[in-house]
Amino acid sequence: MTKPFRVVMTRPIMQPAMDLLSGQCELRVWEQEAPIDAATLKDWLRDCDGLLCVGDRIDQAVLAAAPQLKVISQPAVGYDNIDIDACNRRKIPVGYTPGILTDATADLTITHLLTAARRFCEDWDFVRSGKWRYNIPTFMLGTDIQGKTLGIIGFGQIGQAVARRAQAFGMNIIYFDNETKNVPGCERKELEQLLAAADFVSLHVSLTPQTRRLLSTEQFALMKPTAVLINMARGPIVDSEALVMALKTKTIAFASLDVFDPEPIPADHPILALDNVVITSHRGSATLETRTAMSLLAAENLLNGLSGKPLRFCVNAAVQN
Ligand code: GLV
Repeated sequence: MTKPFRVVMTRPIMQPAMDLLSGQCELRVWEQEAPIDAATLKDWLRDCDGLLCVGDRIDQAVLAAAPQLKVISQPAVGYDNIDIDACNRRKIPVGYTPGILTDATADLTITHLLTAARRFCEDWDFVRSGKWRYNIPTFMLGTDIQGKTLGIIGFGQIGQAVARRAQAFGMNIIYFDNETKNVPGCERKELEQLLAAADFVSLHVSLTPQTRRLLSTEQFALMKPTAVLINMARGPIVDSEALVMALKTKTIAFASLDVFDPEPIPADHPILALDNVVITSHRGSATLETRTAMSLLAAENLLNGLSGKPLRFCVNAAVQN
């Protein structure tokens, strides 16, 4: 039986979602580990109705190669890789998956915070390399987080979920956001005030032209020399070159990052040679449960778009009217 829709997937997603999609769509799935190249993507999209992408650059040129495209869906909360204006011009709805990855991302943020505070990775390196020979009371001390100030930049769903967790650890919460949010115990500050006051600074804004390089040399200079920077949002929000310099010169004490610019990080990048940084590989939502829920929601968004129904979560919902 022929299936009504043709869909390009730039990555396989979780199996329950693959099963759901393959029941109704003819799928063309890029199975290789290296991302699909733009030429192949354009070629594959020539006669396709739907696109499920995962971080691939979807710009005007890609859309131009896809004359039949009805919907784009991405299992992610961020969509900075997709040219939304170009999608609006073509009236293509773009699905995304906010909300369901909030807890997983907030959990990994706290993991980074505690990892930095307690020097977890440094200690594991020490033990693994066979250097643990004595228990010395003054050796490799971390810092308490109780009573310390966490500055959250971007106080949306994820920022607020981080705040709730950090409050349970006895941290004081300040935040910077364009809007004032009425969250008990959390005080809004201007960015400069936050940077100067925080012991830990955690980034949870989307990447937009306004937030690109939000933190650079000038902002690092405002931070405490004991401060820890956590980035769970997008790499380009931080000026990477300035960060390397701030860490080298001990302008700030430590960075604990789940994202970086560029991503993936080339093996010879100077950030990897520093000992006051810990980096994970963009895994904020990477739990079995969360990735399964994201995959299913992305599949549902895609199927809705293909059959002309409103997407459950749509970045540019106005094009659906
Ligand atoms: C992950 O980075 C996401 O945007 O969901």
